[in-house]
Amino acid sequence: MRSGGFFLNLLRESGLALDFPGLLRLVRSRAWLRVLAFRFLRARVSPDILGRVERLGCGLEQKAELFNMAISQIRVGETYKTGCAGRTALTDAAIAERAREFEAPRVLDAGASDGLGSLDLIHRLGPEASLTLADRHPEFWRRPFPLGAVFLDGDRRLLSVKFLFLYLYLGSDPGRGGPLDARGLSRIDTTNPLVRERLGPFAVRRLDVFSGVLEPGFELIKCANLLNVEYFELERIAAAAANLARSLVPGGYLFIAQSNARFRDSEAYVLLRRQGGDLVLVEEKNGHEALALFSGGGR
Ligand SMILES: C[S@@+](CC[C@H](N)C(=O)[O-])C[C@H]1O[C@@H](n2cnc3c(N)ncnc32)[C@H](O)[C@@H]1O
Repeated sequence: MRSGGFFLNLLRESGLALDFPGLLRLVRSRAWLRVLAFRFLRARVSPDILGRVERLGCGLEQKAELFNMAISQIRVGETYKTGCAGRTALTDAAIAERAREFEAPRVLDAGASDGLGSLDLIHRLGPEASLTLADRHPEFWRRPFPLGAVFLDGDRRLLSVKFLFLYLYLGSDPGRGGPLDARGLSRIDTTNPLVRERLGPFAVRRLDVFSGVLEPGFELIKCANLLNVEYFELERIAAAAANLARSLVPGGYLFIAQSNARFRDSEAYVLLRRQGGDLVLVEEKNGHEALALFSGGGR
């Protein structure tokens, strides 16, 4: 992990467990309050907040927004589950354009978080296309104990502990070991309510971009805001790209994208194509750092 070891992350990600949807409502339209609450007062949310937002009596759109705000605060392993609608407009437009090259394109969004951002892509793709959402942590797991709970990540490895109002983040411990027994655990779906309404519960499939392969292959894969130099060394990004290529059909495209204000249009991507056993660079936009990994001319 690039952003600090176990103790640094324990300090950085732990704080007051304020699993109150009312707090989210309060800070929703006030950026300064969000900074105050989450940065200076160290408010944190545990995966419990997702179920609480789910049970709110408000409209679906508002629920979707609050759910997305809540999940975006949660750190898991090397990355956050941050995601939101509209942040990859440039990439989505380019994917829709390339999708026209195929009769019935199968598109994979790898590292889709709660899937809310993927809805934009669904709207851009034609009716002949199908979209699959995948993430390493499509669910959390919960084991209660008196006055608190232990949370596990999508790999069923220790993520955090909540005791009364204290949230302790333990997700960077290299000694966390293998998956824990599923007995006595309840499952927390990380799919956004709006996505669930469109695609059904647990619509996000499990995939680790470093090792997993989804069959049959896809014509297009989008991997946005995951393979970033802030999260991973370039060598690991290269390894993930090589692994994702195994889920591409020959001639299929892989988009590695990032949204960040430092890029022109606040977004950058590299577009790679699977040719034989290789990934060949066919396009780049706005200087994504992964560009350094791939050679070849534009098309
Ligand atoms: C910052 S979010 C990006 C969400 C969305 N793609 C977007 O652009 O808004 C990163 C997501 O990648 C997921 N993730 C982290 N490591 C992963 C891995 N090895 N394989 C697949 N997904 C992973 C996290 O669970 C999280 O949902």
